[in-house]
Amino acid sequence: MLGLLAEREAEQAKVARMLHDDAGQVLSAIGLHLDVLRGDLTAEQSGQVVEMQKLLEQVIGRIRAASQALHANVVERAGLGFALEQLVGRARDKAVGVTIRLLVTPGERWPNEPAHAAYRIVEALLENALNHAMAQRIEVRMQAGVVEVRDDGRGFDLERKTNGLGLLQCRYLAKSAKLGMSIQSTAGHGTIVKLTLHGV
Ligand SMILES: Nc1ncnc2c1ncn2[C@@H]1O[C@H](COP(=O)(O)OP(=O)(O)OP(=O)(O)O)[C@@H](O)[C@H]1O
Ligand SMILES: [Mg+2]
Repeated sequence: MLGLLAEREAEQAKVARMLHDDAGQVLSAIGLHLDVLRGDLTAEQSGQVVEMQKLLEQVIGRIRAASQALHANVVERAGLGFALEQLVGRARDKAVGVTIRLLVTPGERWPNEPAHAAYRIVEALLENALNHAMAQRIEVRMQAGVVEVRDDGRGFDLERKTNGLGLLQCRYLAKSAKLGMSIQSTAGHGTIVKLTLHGV
């Protein structure tokens, strides 16, 4: 019974990934090609291409929403621990030469709202760890009301202004779901982000 359920959730996660990573990426690429094409067109033709691009943006937005809804379903039905397994599996496929560990205490179960938020935050944190940290090891833990993402990368200055929106969005998501969120980062000594269920 449990096995069947897990299989179904894994299937949903796969569909979400296909929608987002495959279909979404291809449509974004078409949008970029259209940008290039516009340079060689008359004003009227170019206007039509702009209309096409707007439609593309709409479709991309819908795909993103559908993919998020499917992920949300997985988080709700199979639990945050299972959804994190899927997420980490995906990150492992992308990350070359980086070890990503996942530790989930069995039976750990979070209410839906903070679980959804934590899922999306961990997604953004993994992206950061893979894109910016130059880490060798990344660890995601879920235990006793805490979800933690740590990397052994180069760290960063939390006070430095950046154009990025990822961490801002994470803070917003955490606040809305009443999750505590703390970031510890030191140059050369990696980064630890903690999400706490009871805001401690
Ligand atoms: N784990 C990390 N290791 C090293 N530097 C980091 C890490 N996480 C974030 N940073 C630094 O903090 C900056 C802000 O991160 P943030 O996620 O807000 O934006 P971004 O990743 O640059 O862009 P976006 O998330 O909007 O695509 C990054 O550009 C990077 O310099
Ligand atoms: Mg980011």
